[in-house]
Amino acid sequence: MADFIGAVDQGTTSSRFMIFDHDGNEVARHQLEHEQILPRSGWVEHDPVEIWERTNSVMQTALRTGGLSGTDLDAIGITNQRETTVVWDPRTGRPYYNAIVWQDTRTDSIAKALENGGYGEIIRRKSGLPPATYFSGGKIKWILENVEGVRAAAEQGHAVFGNTDCWVLWNLTGGPDGGIHATDVTNASRTMLMNLETLDWDDELLDIFGIPRAMLPTIRPSSDAEAYGRSRTSRPLRAAIPITGVLGDQQAATVGQVCFEPGEAKNTYGTGNFLVLNTGTELIRSKHGLLTTVAYRFGQSPPVYALEGSIAVTGSAVQWLRDQMKIITTASESERLARTVEDNGGMYFVPAFSGLFAPYWRSDARGAIVGLARYNTNGHLARATLEAICYQSRDVVEAMEQDSGVHLDVLKVDGGVTANDLCMQIQADVLGVPVSRPVVAETTALGAAYAAGLATGFWQDQSELREHWQESKRWEPQWGEEQRTEGYANWKRAVERTLDWVEVG
Ligand code: G3P
Repeated sequence: MADFIGAVDQGTTSSRFMIFDHDGNEVARHQLEHEQILPRSGWVEHDPVEIWERTNSVMQTALRTGGLSGTDLDAIGITNQRETTVVWDPRTGRPYYNAIVWQDTRTDSIAKALENGGYGEIIRRKSGLPPATYFSGGKIKWILENVEGVRAAAEQGHAVFGNTDCWVLWNLTGGPDGGIHATDVTNASRTMLMNLETLDWDDELLDIFGIPRAMLPTIRPSSDAEAYGRSRTSRPLRAAIPITGVLGDQQAATVGQVCFEPGEAKNTYGTGNFLVLNTGTELIRSKHGLLTTVAYRFGQSPPVYALEGSIAVTGSAVQWLRDQMKIITTASESERLARTVEDNGGMYFVPAFSGLFAPYWRSDARGAIVGLARYNTNGHLARATLEAICYQSRDVVEAMEQDSGVHLDVLKVDGGVTANDLCMQIQADVLGVPVSRPVVAETTALGAAYAAGLATGFWQDQSELREHWQESKRWEPQWGEEQRTEGYANWKRAVERTLDWVEVG
């Protein structure tokens, strides 16, 4: 058995390859950003060819910097930005259109028409998701309806769909020369097309969206001893390594944080925030604006489900301070600027740039800064931005507690923003529960590696993985109850003011 496991993390802003040893420690990594293509307000695209080239290159560079070769890898896991939709010609590997990214809101009118046409209930019941621009189904439909020739090609099997896990897998296993067209249950559970109970594409949902089944990949377990396929020796690893783990990035982070028991949850702070609560083999249907989704399925064991609170804009609000407002030059400076003031000075910022996701699901919302007085400074804006990350997380924690009856004793966190000490302190203050960050903060790539390594026997079982988890830092709440209640009530008032701002559909 080789000594390491590799993990591709194809994310929204970058692609990375990380290599882990048997103790779950990072041995090498490389990461490259790709272009964010913004052709119109609300549209967000990526170039799939660029994504594959970058993925290729980070795999080679990570191996080189670690002084390793492909054959040092026992297996590979793939994790990815979910929902982002690629449609390509399997004969040539040429995409018919740019990838339509999860944040893209062009399918607003499709989502609205589904709701108005009375399909909302059936989509929610079968897929666990509300009709919204976020998910892949509407994006595939848009490509079928708006890109010339794609519908006819799809009907003949010459246009196939995949999220970026599937696109990377297909390319890594041979591309036009025998590439494997498959995905895992967690990614499939974000399309609005998979039935959560059968774990198969659902004919009724496919009919509603008008999507031919022939376009869709085979759905496999997230960790699969039978391997999705092997990397082609002519491709970046130059070795035939089995690909035995695939799962969406938030589900991968759930695995990386070893949230294997019902009631365990993690919150990942990236461009958006994604709070995932393991609900075990029980499928809980949310009544409070959360998504029901598959957390993971290891081999042939029953799937483990989750409730998820997805927040569209958190870390990207800090990027907005940097790139558009230009009040900071690096994201980490937001902490220094926010520390120049003692509190938010009465200012609340709701960064509803692409509407509001969980628990509101309001695409008619747009961002607002409220409570402004002449007294306010850039420091208050920075502070209000960090608070917005934390208040949005509280919104989904509240919904989660109502849906599941589980009260969080501690919130496990990961992702880039967790390096912001002030933000994590505010998170503990706003929630009134401790916040805990693990030593290995790259839980997404680690989770994909775990899924791959469990399948090959590199790791024996989940309890072995649990032993790797170590806390690096814990933040205890410091605010009193009165401050917490008043702050949250003001936040809710601010959210109210963002609603009904734009006409949808
Ligand atoms: O659902 C979208 C999510 O998977 C994107 O995650 O970390 O690439 O922004 P990230």
